[in-house]
Amino acid sequence: MKSIKWSSDLSVGIDQIDEDHRRLVQCLDDLFTACFAGQGPEVLNGILARLLQYTREHFSREEDIMRRVGYPEFETHRALHAELVSELDDFIESNALADNHGTSNKLLQFLQDWLTRHILVEDKKICRHVGAID
Ligand SMILES: [Fe+2]
Repeated sequence: MKSIKWSSDLSVGIDQIDEDHRRLVQCLDDLFTACFAGQGPEVLNGILARLLQYTREHFSREEDIMRRVGYPEFETHRALHAELVSELDDFIESNALADNHGTSNKLLQFLQDWLTRHILVEDKKICRHVGAID
């Protein structure tokens, strides 16, 4: 398993969104590093809490942009955001990271896949709509 890194492929052409995505990628990378350094649940849960906070802030900024530009798939996109926030919430509440290392690996993989796919597919659709990318 590799850590997620920012690359220009992930750029969606709207500075504010790119900046947020960079921060989320960095936070996932922090989680990766902490997991593989064998950090305990306290450290891991602290990073997860930060990730959840950044994610919430980012989603609300992105939703403002979608509203402003009259994005036609707003509701579908917002539902994807809400789903991830509630999954993260449940995960943090269940304190599953305290249990074992396999769980944190699975979570990391899930979050990396989710974020990458979401940026490349869903967020790029918004940017195409506003003409930020082709
Ligand atoms: Fe999004």
